[in-house]
Amino acid sequence: MLETNVTRLLRIKYPIIQAPMAGGPTTPGLVAAVSNAGGLGSLGAGYLAPEQVRSAIREIRQLTDRPFGVNLFVPEESRASDETISKMNEVLNGYREKLGIDANPAIPKYSESFEEQAEVLLEENVPVFSFTFGIPSAKRLEAMRQQGIVLVGTATTVDEAMKLEAAGVHAITAQGSEAGGHRGTFLKKAEESLIGTMALVPQMVDLVSVPVIASGGIMDGRGLVASLALGASAVQMGTAFLACSESGAHTAFKQKILTANEDSTEITSVYSGKAARGIRTEFMREMEAYTSDIPEYPIQNALTRDIRQAAARANNPEYMSLWAGQGLRLAGERTAAETVEVVIKQAEELVSLMGKLGGKRS
Ligand SMILES: Cc1cc2nc3c(=O)[nH]c(=O)nc-3n(C[C@H](O)[C@H](O)[C@H](O)COP(=O)(O)O)c2cc1C
Repeated sequence: MLETNVTRLLRIKYPIIQAPMAGGPTTPGLVAAVSNAGGLGSLGAGYLAPEQVRSAIREIRQLTDRPFGVNLFVPEESRASDETISKMNEVLNGYREKLGIDANPAIPKYSESFEEQAEVLLEENVPVFSFTFGIPSAKRLEAMRQQGIVLVGTATTVDEAMKLEAAGVHAITAQGSEAGGHRGTFLKKAEESLIGTMALVPQMVDLVSVPVIASGGIMDGRGLVASLALGASAVQMGTAFLACSESGAHTAFKQKILTANEDSTEITSVYSGKAARGIRTEFMREMEAYTSDIPEYPIQNALTRDIRQAAARANNPEYMSLWAGQGLRLAGERTAAETVEVVIKQAEELVSLMGKLGGKRS
């Protein structure tokens, strides 16, 4: 009943993609459980070292023989002077002191090597490669395509979608402004590219010919059916899977997901230097005073890592990043398979109800 271009492209039963969520939530167990349930599980591998990416992929393969995706962050140029970094470290040292960790930690590198991570994806021959924050080189994409890997890019505007299509991706994730986590914006400023899912999806569908995957604020069968009605061929859901039993999100984070509301989130750059939507925290509120001093992504992300990790060890969500979308009241504490099942059941009921309503009118 819910077969689409994307279910055929990805060889999955249902048009549901569990969003890649770097930083811990998308464990191999979660990815495999979603794929086993008929959706597409995706590993958020952006922060993993190449050998960690390889072992996570191998673990997923031990848990499922179904297709799955692996997601990486396309690297971007960023620079910060020693002065900017030491100024920010002075501010962050206050948090480090409160958390009992060392001031001015040594940071050997700001991010993992995208090219080395991508090489692992080729060597392991992953079924689906999705990416965000830009477009990988033509050479890299061609190597993936040659090997039969399905390519999925992320766009927050129609112009970005057209660039992705020209680069030869097989499908595009339309990331609406409701979405949790980092914005995939790569052409304009993030604040100039905040288009809601309802407005973004049909405009993108009209202007690109590859299938569009709706993402941002989609939490249940209603969101799935609405997305299909807008012309999307599947949905990508993140927040809906965060509190699942297989999710690796911290317990305090899961608790926040289950108790927060539609107005609990905000878009902030204070954690990473890049705009991202998350549940408001003390850190977000206090760091607002320093927004003009924040180095760009991934520098700020690396600078705050020890603070976020120490906060997690101390079960203190106020200094952790709690990335989440605006559909929070609809999040539930289910297994991943139950989540897929509930969404599909509700969508199928709605589709048959709509058929009846249409029947009455004719
Ligand atoms: C905790 C969290 C981490 C995320 N990490 C990634 C990521 O690593 N790569 C990516 O492409 N998108 C990432 N996203 C964004 C999702 O792909 C997707 O756009 C978003 O979850 C959709 O909105 P929703 O959370 O309202 O479902 C993340 C989202 C969340 C909530």
